[in-house]
Amino acid sequence: MNKIETDILVLGSGIAGLSLAIKAASIGNVCIVTKAACIESNTRLAQGGIACVWDENDSFQKHINDTIIAGDGHCNIIAVNTVVQNAPKMIQDLMSLGVKFNKNKDNSLELGREGGHSNHRIVHINDESGLAIVNALLEKARSIKNISFYEHHFAIDLLKKEETCTGALVWDIKNEGTVIFNSRLTILATGGAGKVFEQTTNPDIATGDGYAMANNIGADLADMEFVQFHPTSLFHPNANGFLISEALRGFGAELVLPDGKRFMQNYHILGSLAPRDIVSRAIYTEMQKNHLSCLFLDARSLPSVELINKFPAIYQKCLLLDIDITKNLIPIAPAAHYICGGVVTDINGRTNIKGLYALGEVACTGLHGANRLASNSLLEGLVFAENAFQNIKNNLHDHPFKKIMQDDISDNFRNNIGEQNIIKKLKQNVGEIMWKYAGIKRNQKNMLLAYDKLGLIEDAYTELSLTSISTPDLLELRNIIITAKLIMGFAINRSESLGTHFLEETDYN
Ligand code: SIN
Repeated sequence: MNKIETDILVLGSGIAGLSLAIKAASIGNVCIVTKAACIESNTRLAQGGIACVWDENDSFQKHINDTIIAGDGHCNIIAVNTVVQNAPKMIQDLMSLGVKFNKNKDNSLELGREGGHSNHRIVHINDESGLAIVNALLEKARSIKNISFYEHHFAIDLLKKEETCTGALVWDIKNEGTVIFNSRLTILATGGAGKVFEQTTNPDIATGDGYAMANNIGADLADMEFVQFHPTSLFHPNANGFLISEALRGFGAELVLPDGKRFMQNYHILGSLAPRDIVSRAIYTEMQKNHLSCLFLDARSLPSVELINKFPAIYQKCLLLDIDITKNLIPIAPAAHYICGGVVTDINGRTNIKGLYALGEVACTGLHGANRLASNSLLEGLVFAENAFQNIKNNLHDHPFKKIMQDDISDNFRNNIGEQNIIKKLKQNVGEIMWKYAGIKRNQKNMLLAYDKLGLIEDAYTELSLTSISTPDLLELRNIIITAKLIMGFAINRSESLGTHFLEETDYN
C-alpha cells in the first residue's frame, strides 16, 4: 500500500477545492484527489454564473434579502452577509486569473437575471460560466509546483485518529492499488449527490461520496432534506439531464403549457422568475393536473441572433436533438439539482471533526437555507475557500501529522467487474425510490415506507460487499445508499413544509 504525506489534502476538483488548493499552496504542500479527470465536476456544468452586486442600482441588502426569501427564512444570516459582501472581491480575483466575463459595449460587466433575484446581478460567461471558471482555476493550479494532482483516485474513507481527521484512504483506479494520504488538514470538496435521484441535472460522478464519508466518521450533517429541483432540465431521451439555464428565463423565455399558454402568473407574482422551489412545484403540479411528462420553455419571440450568441451551448445541444430554440418550444421537466444541506461548517468551513473542513456543495454553511438562490453556489465555494484559507494560514503547523499505521487498514479493494449489473440495478432502485418518495412533493407515510425500502437495498449491498471485493462502483453504491437514507431520514423528521421540502396530504399511487 502506497503512503503519501501532504500538508493539505483536497478531495474534489470543483470551484471550492481548486480555489482552496491555489491559496493553500502558498503555505504548504497540497494534494488534489479526484475520482475522475479534474475537469469533471458539477462546477463544469454550471451555466448561469455568479451572483454579485455590481450595478449601482443594486445593493448588498437586496441580495441578502433575496437569498433569505428564497431560503424560506432558514438561512444563517452571518453566512449570507459574508458571502454577499465578498462577492465583488471574488469576481475581481477571478478576472485577475484571466476569467473573461461577458461585457457590455461600454466595457461594464454584463449582468444576467435569474429566479428569485430582484436585480440583474449574474456575472457570467455566456451559458458556460462554470467551464470557463474551472478551466482558469485548473490552469493556475497546474502551474503551481506545490500542488500535486491525483486524478482517477477514488476516496474510499476519511481516516480518523484521536478524534482528528488524518487524511483519507484512496483507491488508485488506474494502477489498482490503495493509497493512504496522511495530511495535517483535509478539505472535503466532493460536490453533491444528484445521482441519488432518478432524474437529475448532475453528472454521473455526483454520488454523495462526501456526505457518506463524513457521516462515517461522525461529522455533523444538517438540512439534507432540502433538495433543490431545477425547474428546467431538458426533457428528451438523449438529453442526459442537460440543464436549460434559468438565465434563459432571465432573458425573457416563458414557461408554457403545450398549447403555448403561460401559467406561472397563477403561482407567483414573479411568474417564470419566481424562486426555484415554487417554479418546480408549479411545473410539477401542472404536469400532474394535465397528465403530461413535460412542459415547455418558449424562447421563440426573443431576438434570435442575440439568443444564439448568449446561449450558444444550449442552442447547440438542443439543435443536436432537432430542437431549434429560436423556432420550437423547448421540452423541460424538473430534476434534482442541488443539495442545500450537508456537512455542517462554521463560517471558516470547519466541521466538528478536528482537521476536517468542508467546502462547496457538500457543506452546509447555512447560506442556502431551505432553498438555494440561483447562482449563489459558485460564489459560496469561492468565499468559503477564502475564509478557510485565512483560518488555516497561520496555524497549519499547529496540526501535527498523526501517522496512520498500514496494519489499521484493510486492503481488499480491487476493480472487479463481476457484480456491475447488480450494482447498477441497485443504484437505479435507489434513484427510483428517491424520485418517487423524496421528490418535489412528499408525504410522511410514504417516506416512512420508502425508508424501509432503502433499508432492504442496504441489506442487499451489505450482502454483496461480504461476498465481493470492493470496487469504486460498489463504494459509489454504498455512498448513494447512505446519502439517500440521510435525505429521507431528515425529510421524515421535518413534519412541516419549508422551502424545497414540500409535504402534501394525498398519497402517491
Ligand atoms: C442555472 O443556470 O439555471 C443554474 C444556476 C444555478 O444552479 O445556480
